[in-house]
Amino acid sequence: MNEGKSYVPPVGIGEVMRALGTGRVDASNHPDFAVGDAVTGVFGVQDYALSDGRGVTRVDEPRPVYLGTLGMTGFTAYFGLLDIGRPQPGQTVVVSGAAGAVGMVVGQIAKILGCRVVGIAGGPEKCRFLTEELGFDAAVDYRSPTFGGALREATPAGVDVYFDNVGGDVLDAVLTRLARGARIVICGAISQYNAEARPRGPSNYLSLLVNRASMQGMVVFDYAPRYPEALAALSGWMKEGKLQSREQVVSGLPTFPDRLGMLFRGENLGKLVLEV
Ligand SMILES: NC(=O)c1ccc[n+]([C@@H]2O[C@H](COP(=O)([O-])OP(=O)(O)OC[C@H]3O[C@@H](n4cnc5c(N)ncnc54)[C@H](OP(=O)(O)O)[C@@H]3O)[C@@H](O)[C@H]2O)c1
Repeated sequence: MNEGKSYVPPVGIGEVMRALGTGRVDASNHPDFAVGDAVTGVFGVQDYALSDGRGVTRVDEPRPVYLGTLGMTGFTAYFGLLDIGRPQPGQTVVVSGAAGAVGMVVGQIAKILGCRVVGIAGGPEKCRFLTEELGFDAAVDYRSPTFGGALREATPAGVDVYFDNVGGDVLDAVLTRLARGARIVICGAISQYNAEARPRGPSNYLSLLVNRASMQGMVVFDYAPRYPEALAALSGWMKEGKLQSREQVVSGLPTFPDRLGMLFRGENLGKLVLEV
């Protein structure tokens, strides 16, 4: 949203807030879309969207899962982990924001690939969810005063892949645990998005040198031509019962600003979806 260079243009003052959406076609002059078709696209935070059909995809039903695990956040997890993280069976994969939309898919794919998976999330309830419901090998609460020790204990052989959604102190803590040749995927840095000064960089970055490690940013839009591949893999795993999806659906268009804040307060589990 902020002014300045990013991977998408800032949302202009007075413009409709950008968001992915799913719904049904209400009226159509487009040959490829008929009234009643279920679609997904960048429809924005509004009751009705007007589209020329570009970037609009037809789906079977307007289900929230198409905004999460079988949509943009699932694709982010898939390409970030597989293309940049490149985990091998038996390696240790750590993911932060682990109980969120991207993170929960990252951890589950890593389990499917035969990795040891450690999730980092805020609070004991989310940590229990990761180990008991999603099958992560361990989960560590970054808000606990014993976070550093718990992370050390959960990663006895070091960290081969770190999928970072949060940046800040959590990134610094994981940097102290890298195994030789580790890959760090910079997917996001939610702890820094609201910083009024410049975002804080990692102070433990010399660990990259010592461990011959690499840190690389990724943006899901670069993989657009390969979305069908991700969709096929993710939906296949879901059908086989190997991948669970979680969406938290809240409602009320006027509540949007406060609902957005839920992401920054850690009040969501899985993909946060606003029903309008
Ligand atoms: N690169 C790309 O192409 C791409 C695409 C999509 C998303 N992203 C990024 O991926 C990340 C996850 O996105 P998402 O949509 O899946 O959101 P999400 O993980 O569902 O929600 C955000 C989570 O971040 C955690 N969080 C908030 N403030 C934090 C802090 N100060 N320190 C540590 N954790 C904090 C909260 O969980 P806790 O309760 O655990 O704190 C919250 O639930 C974001 O950084 C987003 O910008 C990047």
